[in-house]
Amino acid sequence: MTSQHRDSVERLLSEWGRERPDLNPSPVAIQGRIVRLSAHLLRQTESYLADLGLGWEAFSLIVTLRRSGKPYQLRPTDILRESLLTSGAVTNRIDRVEKMGFSYFRLIRNTKCKGIFKFKQILKSDMNSQTFYQKFPYPLFPKPIDWAKPLLHEIQNPKRILHAGCATGSQTKSLAYTFPEAEIIGIDFSNTSVDLAKQLLTDPKLKNTKFFVHDLTEPIVEKYGQFDFIVSYGVLHHIERVNNAMQNLRAALKDEQSPFLIFVYGAYGRATIARIQQACKLIIDSSSLTEEELRALLYSTSTKIGTFDGLRGFVKKIIINLSQKMRLGWESSMADALINPYVMYYTLDSIQDLLARNNFRFGNFIHRAQSKAVGFPQHIDEFLLKNKIPMNENVSNNIKMKVCDLLSAPKEYEFICYRSN
Ligand SMILES: C[S@@+](CC[C@H](N)C(=O)[O-])C[C@H]1O[C@@H](n2cnc3c(N)ncnc32)[C@H](O)[C@@H]1O
Repeated sequence: MTSQHRDSVERLLSEWGRERPDLNPSPVAIQGRIVRLSAHLLRQTESYLADLGLGWEAFSLIVTLRRSGKPYQLRPTDILRESLLTSGAVTNRIDRVEKMGFSYFRLIRNTKCKGIFKFKQILKSDMNSQTFYQKFPYPLFPKPIDWAKPLLHEIQNPKRILHAGCATGSQTKSLAYTFPEAEIIGIDFSNTSVDLAKQLLTDPKLKNTKFFVHDLTEPIVEKYGQFDFIVSYGVLHHIERVNNAMQNLRAALKDEQSPFLIFVYGAYGRATIARIQQACKLIIDSSSLTEEELRALLYSTSTKIGTFDGLRGFVKKIIINLSQKMRLGWESSMADALINPYVMYYTLDSIQDLLARNNFRFGNFIHRAQSKAVGFPQHIDEFLLKNKIPMNENVSNNIKMKVCDLLSAPKEYEFICYRSN
């Protein structure tokens, strides 16, 4: 090689010879040239692939899948073994290639776990209830259209109904079918939910229904007037400033005979679920489990926690079962179960306290077929008798109710209340 044709490795060797004649740099002659050749080949290949709309990483992933043979399926861990990359880099690469739309190949991966990792990021950011419900609109259960039918016992011909916390509108639709003459206003502070709810308005039976974005902790009556029936189902337990909401709703009730339907979660019946949720939050947030390990933990642990079948039961019962029934799928239901920023669990005592503080009087519990097993017992005396609970004749109804509450441990309370003077 003349000095004119010396390559950079040759120069590097002669420099070492001059500076440190005691060292033998000859291995670099081979290694250095391999590295340079590889970079050169990669550049050439990339410029060739660029014309085909591909990068090296996409190309190598595709050929790995292709040479695996039919049905061209690999798990990310298999790809990891072949690629000398970190698992994060492989995941990013898979994401990018998938976005390019190479649907011919299928990467087998557990989207639920992918979701958990996404949630991990979300958990770390400061998310309040509103941003949460904007990101994860409450899923629309395919609720039977007659969901609102039992409410016909509470009020016959309401002129105006407020659905406070209407989410994506499934209950509002049922209200519209059940009370076809009533004007119905659905409000929710999640605009993504309200947008989805508005899609239901093409149904002619919802001709008297309107949806608005509104926060219940802001005054209601000035904007929407008064109502002779208010429904707030599964909402108040997610509101931190619940007294503000109760005051606004109270002012929106037409008079002392106007029923207000409330549904809230029960502290006793949901104690285990609440513990599992908190544990899940902490595990997701503070562990450095790999995707595989987390999947294994969530799906296979059978640790009994109380009477509950541990995380596995939780995932199966709450996440998987629910997500199959929901229009918006697993992501929202998983989010609702795992990362809802605020949930308050009620007891009969704290319900009575909430009502008294805000000038309401308790009316009656609502008993639906499905709530028999999970709600407040329908017949108090029957419950006490069946469970052989001794009580004196003159014991007040309130004490009996408290005993029922403690022993039956309702998962939920659905009841009617009225504003008092
Ligand atoms: C668990 S979802 C229940 C939705 C619906 N009632 C149902 O049961 O199908 C709770 C809903 O309450 C809404 N929400 C929570 N806090 C609210 C607030 N302060 N103002 C208005 N809506 C609120 C959420 O956006 C969410 O759509």
